[in-house]
Amino acid sequence: MQNIPVRHAVIGVGSIAAIHLRDIGSQPGVTVVGLADPADPARWKIPAEHTAVPRYQDAEKMLRETQPDLVSICTPNKFHHGFTLLALRHGAHVACEKPLAMTVAEAAEMEAARAAAGKLGGINFSYRNVTSFRFARELIARGELGRVLRVNCVYLQSFLGAPATLHSWRNDASLAGFGALGDLGIHMIDGVRWLTGLDYRRAVGLAQILIPEKPDAAGVNRAITTDTNAAFLTELTGGVIATFETSQVAPGYGNFFRIEVSGERGTLAVHSDHADELWLRTGGLLTHHATWRTDIPLQKIPTDYAGAGGPTTPGAIVPAIRGAKVEFPTFADGLRAQRVLGAIIESMRTGTWVATE
Ligand SMILES: NC(=O)c1ccc[n+]([C@@H]2O[C@H](COP(=O)([O-])OP(=O)(O)OC[C@H]3O[C@@H](n4cnc5c(N)ncnc54)[C@H](O)[C@@H]3O)[C@@H](O)[C@H]2O)c1
Repeated sequence: MQNIPVRHAVIGVGSIAAIHLRDIGSQPGVTVVGLADPADPARWKIPAEHTAVPRYQDAEKMLRETQPDLVSICTPNKFHHGFTLLALRHGAHVACEKPLAMTVAEAAEMEAARAAAGKLGGINFSYRNVTSFRFARELIARGELGRVLRVNCVYLQSFLGAPATLHSWRNDASLAGFGALGDLGIHMIDGVRWLTGLDYRRAVGLAQILIPEKPDAAGVNRAITTDTNAAFLTELTGGVIATFETSQVAPGYGNFFRIEVSGERGTLAVHSDHADELWLRTGGLLTHHATWRTDIPLQKIPTDYAGAGGPTTPGAIVPAIRGAKVEFPTFADGLRAQRVLGAIIESMRTGTWVATE
């Protein structure tokens, strides 16, 4: 099985496609056999090394003619479901972007179709790649914080509030499904579950649209129909309270994704911009006594830890296709996160807590 050739194709050749091409292409024995996108190919974002790859404006034609083993789905969210089912029908494994789908029902259908086809399905929960997140996960799993007592997670951006940002598919609920809540919130939902090992019991949330419209590329003002910011409260396994806040319109914030966890024996925080550092206060003496200090010390991740934890996503699906035992975020993880997202949305409709189990 080692290094059997893997024929890779990509549907949707925009910003994130380059990450799939790079990360999946970093695995030995991968050949890119086709790229598909209905837009004018002059507007595709094709990395220089892939300009000679056959281009298709019809994804089904590409699948028929190139017969890939693995298909990356890098389109706006609305198309993840249809292209996943299509790629599975053409006998391919699938590496899909997040969120997995527009609804829980779609996500469940994708996971069921994957299982029935006997193929692998990966979802690009890319923050699982961050070294400090991986290290924190190991600390918690080894019990170094003791029993987890509380979790707080924020993911804040400012880009949508900037006048220079134009209206795009991300602001159209019929194409994106969700705004900050699905785009950033889904990373938070998966991140907390993956980092702490705790699952969600119930959720309640609130989202809003703080910017009603934006001009598009033609200068025409278009309504923003996706949420610009949201907050939600969840109860995790064992009754642990986890709080979340996300925004695409928080001035001054670039891409601020932070998870903080307190356990009986210490507190840690990780930040996606600090891949080789974490904030950590632990140790028997320090946590035995109460303190009025709030500056949790910044620690360097041990230098020999860098790169630990196996291959990164989305590329880790390649050794898995070859039968290697590697951990990667799967469709099941995508479905789990989608259920929590669905519960938060349902809670907004009903004004009550919604079970996530
Ligand atoms: N994992 C991450 O951290 C991460 C980061 C950015 C984006 N994403 C996800 O990646 C996906 C794409 O985002 P992006 O930033 O690359 O968007 P983008 O706008 O840069 O690219 C989307 C591409 O899809 C194409 N497309 C539109 N409709 C299509 C269709 N019916 N068939 C085939 N192609 C179609 C567009 O022409 C465009 O080239 C989204 O689901 C987004 O949530 C994930």
